[in-house]
Order: sequence, then C-alpha cells, then structure tokens
Amino acid sequence: MTSCAWYRDISENNLRAPHKLDPPQYLGIDELYKKTGVKYEKIPDSVCNDSEALQRLPSERKYKFHDYMEMHRDVLKDYDNMMKVFYDEHLHEDPEIRLIVAGSGFFEVRSIDDLWVRIHVQKGDLLDLPPGIWHRFVLDDKEYIKMLRLFSEIPTWEAEFREKTENPPARDRYRTAMAAMA
Ligand SMILES: [Fe+2]
Repeated sequence: MTSCAWYRDISENNLRAPHKLDPPQYLGIDELYKKTGVKYEKIPDSVCNDSEALQRLPSERKYKFHDYMEMHRDVLKDYDNMMKVFYDEHLHEDPEIRLIVAGSGFFEVRSIDDLWVRIHVQKGDLLDLPPGIWHRFVLDDKEYIKMLRLFSEIPTWEAEFREKTENPPARDRYRTAMAAMA
C-alpha cells in the first residue's frame, strides 16, 4: 500500500496517468488515515479468488446490503457520461466502502488540508471512505474495474457535488470526526 497512495499533482491532462508530484510524495496506511480518515485493508487472494468466500464476506462483516459494480465501456450503460459523474467532486452522508475484485482504478480523496490524495486500487483492496469526505473516481489505463459495494444501512445513492454546495451537513460531521482523531 505504501506506494499506492500519493499526493496528486494539479494537472487535469490524461486522467489515466499516475499524476504524482516530482519527486513523488507517498502516504502509508496510517498517514492516509490520519490525513483523510480513509481506512485501507488488504483482503487476501484466498477470499477474492473464492466466490463462496466472497459471497460470505458482507454478512460476516455485518453489512446489510451489497452489490457489484462493473465499469467498462462494454458493460456500463451511458459509460462516457457516468465517467464524468464519477469524476465530479462529491460527498455522501454515508461511508463509501468498496472491495476491488478485478481490474484497477484511482480513487481521489481530499485530505483535511484540502489536498488531493490519489489511491491506486486493485484486486483485494478494501477502501472505507468516511461520510463527508470530498472524493471522485477515475479508471486507470486498463479502463476496467469490478467492485463489491458494501453498505451498513439502506443505500441512499445521494451525492452532494462541491460545485453546487461547499458545506453540506455531512461536511461538518467529517470535520468533527477528523478533529477528534487529531
Ligand atoms: Fe462517491
């Protein structure tokens, strides 16, 4: 994981490129959590490669709901538009929890200092984004990912976009939670 999260440069050219600073500034798991509140866990291949073990994971971890989402030009309806929506900076009232079961991509999350941190996720990576964190997603140059989406409560699917509102209620909750961690 150490080399899989880094502070992002400011370029918006070729989003599928790594966009590291020069020299790169990486974050380890602990620093990622401290700066963003994002939790990272590696799920072993013995689970990811075993369809029955994967099927058991949501209930073993007490998630009430789950589903799969696949992103690729051939399988995702309205692909180009959906990619734009996923890359539009937003937040949710609930955690965004994703286990990558195939492919790869970039989650981008704002640190508490409002800097972009890029997380290159691939198979076996379980990310838990806290409620109220500004974030967005883009595919990498492989242009394919399949994620297991995990929900503790009934999913609302609602997103607040930053270009429309700077301070939705979940943002205060995020700041309070981050201050409590400091
Ligand atoms: Fe999201």
